[in-house]
Amino acid sequence: MQEKITQYTSEINTFQPKSVDELEAFRIRFLGTKGIIKDLFDEFKTVTPEEKRLLGKVLNEFKKLAEEKHQSFKEQFESGVQAGEAKQDLSLPGEGFETGSRHPLSLVRKEIIEIFKKLGFNVAEGPEIEDDWHNFSALNFPEEHPARDMQDTFFIKKDAENGDIALRTHTSSVQVRMMENGQPPFRAIMPGRVYRNEAISARAHCFFHQVEGLYVDENVSFADLKQTLFYFVQELYGEGTKVRFRPSYFPFTEPSAEMDVSCSICKGAGCQMCKHSGWVEILGCGMVDPNVLENCGIDSKKFTGYAFGMGIERITNLKYQIRDLRLFSENDVRFLKQFQSELI
Ligand code: PHE
Repeated sequence: MQEKITQYTSEINTFQPKSVDELEAFRIRFLGTKGIIKDLFDEFKTVTPEEKRLLGKVLNEFKKLAEEKHQSFKEQFESGVQAGEAKQDLSLPGEGFETGSRHPLSLVRKEIIEIFKKLGFNVAEGPEIEDDWHNFSALNFPEEHPARDMQDTFFIKKDAENGDIALRTHTSSVQVRMMENGQPPFRAIMPGRVYRNEAISARAHCFFHQVEGLYVDENVSFADLKQTLFYFVQELYGEGTKVRFRPSYFPFTEPSAEMDVSCSICKGAGCQMCKHSGWVEILGCGMVDPNVLENCGIDSKKFTGYAFGMGIERITNLKYQIRDLRLFSENDVRFLKQFQSELI
């Protein structure tokens, strides 16, 4: 018996449980109702009185050792400290809590929306998968227009009878949906993602983001368009920013223009961003073509309207001097972390 106790004692002394389960197995093995200690006490009853005198103390000490070992590991597991590890130092500073940051495109989209909201524009959205009618035909794109070409558009389904289905190439499709579903006045901006079949490079991507604007009512004029966009630019880039309109062409507006702003980086002196011209183009715009109004069931004799569309990436590039479009979709946190948001 003495031998057994010596052997078990060394087993207990080297015991290092790695888990609560191991500790529980230890408890059952030594301290359980059918455990080793119980057996030893049973055996103790059968030994000679002389041996009893010798072994009584040894056995009690052995039992105490097993109990203490169990108790100390139990406390360690309960306090979360693993066996063998140092006790927790509660005076150490806590671990830093990393907060995320908003994507620069989200920040700029929000800024654009806030500016137009002040002018009474609502926000509307439409589907990214569009039919030919909403993306092209209703917008007065002639049947043979190159924008319908496979090179520019991701077609999902070619369907001569019901019209092709494609990923929208611009947010102007949302104008059509809005006008089809109601009567003027309309005053809304429509932010969203658009897709074009382009090779990905620093300057082009197969998807990007636009904000469309539409205002249709009685007596809406080109002067209203100019004033609205002028106000927008002063809010976005600061007072004193100059604008200029250059004649352009879009199938769905007549007359059409592209708008440039004085370069916010070099203030017109000339830099890489504005290609040393002092001006950067930020949007396309024009008066809604009467054909488009009629296509959407709106009386073009009674109502006129203007529309504009801008790329969010372009405006963000100018604002933060970003020269590679690919950064926006690579999700590199070293890039994204730089845009801490005041607009939570
Ligand atoms: N949809 C045009 C584009 O993607 C922009 C635009 C919108 C132009 C509205 C005029 C009016 O380039």
